[in-house]
Amino acid sequence: MKRILVIHGPNLQMLGKRKPSVYGRVSLPAINERLKQEARRLKVQVAISQFNHEGEIVDAIGSAPGKYNGILINPAAYTHTSVAIRDALEGAGLPAVEVHLSNIHAREEFRHNSLVAPVAVGQISGFGPHSYILGLQALAALLK
Ligand code: DQA
Repeated sequence: MKRILVIHGPNLQMLGKRKPSVYGRVSLPAINERLKQEARRLKVQVAISQFNHEGEIVDAIGSAPGKYNGILINPAAYTHTSVAIRDALEGAGLPAVEVHLSNIHAREEFRHNSLVAPVAVGQISGFGPHSYILGLQALAALLK
C-alpha cells in the first residue's frame, strides 16, 4: 500500500475558528477524519501532522524518503516565504502536491507567489477542506 505523508503548516490548528469567512468552519480534526476516510476508499495509507515551526516541517520532509511514497502539503504562510521547505521538498525527491483551502491567487498580492509550487507536482487551491481531498486523490492516482 502506498504511504502518504500529510503536512499541515502553521496556524492550521486554528481552522474552524480562524477567519471563517476565508477558511470556513471545518476544524482540522474534521479535515483529518475526511482525509482518513478518503484514504481508506483510495486504499492508501496516510500519516498526518501539523507543525507551526518551519524547521519541524523541514525535518519531517527530510525523513520522509524510505518511509513514504508521496507528500501532501499545505505549507500555509510558509508557502510564500520558505526557501528551506522548498529545498527540503526538492531534496526529498518524492512527488508532492501543494494544497490550500483558499484561492491564494485571488487574495493579497503577497500570497500569489508560492515558493513550493515549482517543486510540487501541482497545486490545488480554493476549494476549502475539499482541496485536501482533491490533493489526496491526485497524489494517489499519480502513485498507482
Ligand atoms: C493557506 C493560504 C496561506 O496564504 C495562509 O497563510 C494560510 C493558509 C490556505 O490553506 O488557504 O495559512 O495556505
